[in-house]
Amino acid sequence: MTDPIFPPSAKVAANAHADAKKYEEMYAASVNDPESFWGEHGKRLDWMTPYTKVKNTTFAYPDVSIKWYEDGELNVCVNCVDRHLEKRGDQVAIIWESDEPGGDEKITYKKLHQEVSKLANVYKSLGVKKGDRVVLYMPMIPEAAYAMLACARIGAIHSIVFGGFSPDALASRIADSKAALVVTADEGPRGGRAVGLKKNVDAALDICGDVTTLVVARTGGGPGNKEGRDHDYATLMADASPDCPAEKMNAEDPLFVLYTSGSTGKPKGVVHTSGGYLVSASMTHQYTFDYHDGDVYWCTADVGWITGHSYIVYGPLANGATTLMFEGTPTYPDASRFWQVCEKHKVNQFYTAPTAIRSLMALGDDPVNKCDLSALKVLGTVGEPINPEAWNWYHNVVGKGKVPIVDTWWQTETGAHMMTPLPGATPTKPGSATKPFFGVQPVVLDPTTGKEITTTEAEGVLAIKDSWPSQMRTVYGDHERFVNTYFAAYKGYYFTEDGCRRDKDGYYWITGRVDDVLNVSGHRMGTAEIESALVAHPNVAEAAVVGYPHAVKGQGIYCYVTLNAGVESSDDLRVELRNWVRKQIGPVASPDLIQWAPGLPKTRSGKIMRRILRKVAEDDFGSLGDTSTLAEPEVVDDLIANRMNRG
Ligand code: PRX
Repeated sequence: MTDPIFPPSAKVAANAHADAKKYEEMYAASVNDPESFWGEHGKRLDWMTPYTKVKNTTFAYPDVSIKWYEDGELNVCVNCVDRHLEKRGDQVAIIWESDEPGGDEKITYKKLHQEVSKLANVYKSLGVKKGDRVVLYMPMIPEAAYAMLACARIGAIHSIVFGGFSPDALASRIADSKAALVVTADEGPRGGRAVGLKKNVDAALDICGDVTTLVVARTGGGPGNKEGRDHDYATLMADASPDCPAEKMNAEDPLFVLYTSGSTGKPKGVVHTSGGYLVSASMTHQYTFDYHDGDVYWCTADVGWITGHSYIVYGPLANGATTLMFEGTPTYPDASRFWQVCEKHKVNQFYTAPTAIRSLMALGDDPVNKCDLSALKVLGTVGEPINPEAWNWYHNVVGKGKVPIVDTWWQTETGAHMMTPLPGATPTKPGSATKPFFGVQPVVLDPTTGKEITTTEAEGVLAIKDSWPSQMRTVYGDHERFVNTYFAAYKGYYFTEDGCRRDKDGYYWITGRVDDVLNVSGHRMGTAEIESALVAHPNVAEAAVVGYPHAVKGQGIYCYVTLNAGVESSDDLRVELRNWVRKQIGPVASPDLIQWAPGLPKTRSGKIMRRILRKVAEDDFGSLGDTSTLAEPEVVDDLIANRMNRG
């Protein structure tokens, strides 16, 4: 069977930054001579001290080391703000759209410069210095972008914690990064409800100890500020000078730390640095979305995730773009909200997650059709594989069959798009992230031998052969963990922990994580994290967590729980455990299904056979494979008899 192919229209190709020929030429140049290619494209930034060295990288285990533009100096904030003042000081940098329809704000580059400079001075007045960590726990308001850029301006390292994480999760990130300051808001309105951000910060500081905080009054609600510890944003900004010289930073100085889940242990602090990160973020933003001056661009992600870092703030602003920041949700007050915002601000590029597309698709075409979406030029997806049905709906109903779709595959660790179509260059196939971006050399490895599969058609695990500028540099405070997580399993490569297939046309199809990481509504969750939250409950003896296919979320969270002897299972206990996990990690980790498991399938050496648990959770127990090595094969019969997901 051949997959349907959607070639770029001649009109799009004619005006695009890259058509097919240009893509091929640039791609070949980028892999044949990365030094020259990235030496040239590094010039898209303004450097305070130009670099003379471009690439100094090795994936050789265990001496992995990644440096780009290592003798160059620049300031990321200057590149995202100051350098645009002359040409586009009065152009809108950020369009902010509030949770409640009707509220918006337009922030010009001039105003952005003022706010960021003042805030940078506020940081200094609170004792924050170059190299210090600042934790941001923010709603989607312009102050979140100011807070990031103000860090960059003075060389402080921000670490954003998504507002959907609990006080416990926040506390461990504040402690791990040894933050000098926490910036938050009293409350964050979302979908008509207020998220108690300040309340959560208070609870987190009760756990990890007091840290100076700066609090934006978004709603006027929430707990009051604690004397001597908490500072009111507006009060300090009122007195701050709008004059704050930007710190000269080395290209390899860290810009931010962002925690992300892995298959084992606590979330890792992914470290991104200044020069290479911004080169890749801005270049991908320009080419992937085919962004042109004057376009209005909207990425619906939250700044708490890498997508918000690279494609709401850094990439677009480095390009002098107009970037839209949305506080709300896709369905509040109704299922038309995304499309009304597109109509209202004449959005040209729209970038969202497959889970949002699936949930809106389920609500029918009318909410889309009643809005004028004629300004749309590019539609993007990110975060998880998109099923062809959702792709087709996005293409036909949202894009009226005319707007190219870019399915962007990348990761927190990669900093920027790695595989994606370019609107004027790449024929698309629904469900495929298609081809690598410039400089990216994907390979498919045989998972058992670790050998590269060199035939065009291939299936295996996805690895990357050589470095690219926005690659993560280390795990914050634990370089060994970085080396062992990404470079130990397949020597000489960066291992993505994704499975993939390459088809006869050389197109890549991501098949999902091959480690114990779930992708729930495009959010990364470690099964080990959820398991350790469950076993921390006094009634739980043991727990195993796996994913199962979920029509809207992509994957749902399926928990097998063994209770302590003498504890009665009940629906109330299910609710209690669900709330318990929400409290320990956050609402993003809410279990969907909890099955009481008197026993878990284990090998004689005590290893849980997750393969079997996955099959039962998928309601696919006809093909359990070999169960003869199980210590007690009969536990499987009980699991099947009491399975929760019956198709
Ligand atoms: O499994 C891949 C999936 O999301 C993982 C990375 O998650 P995170 O670091 O949270 O970053 C998400 C935003 C970049 C990947 O290992 N993933 C991401 N994009 C796609 C995807 N899977 C399939 N298709 C995609 N376009």
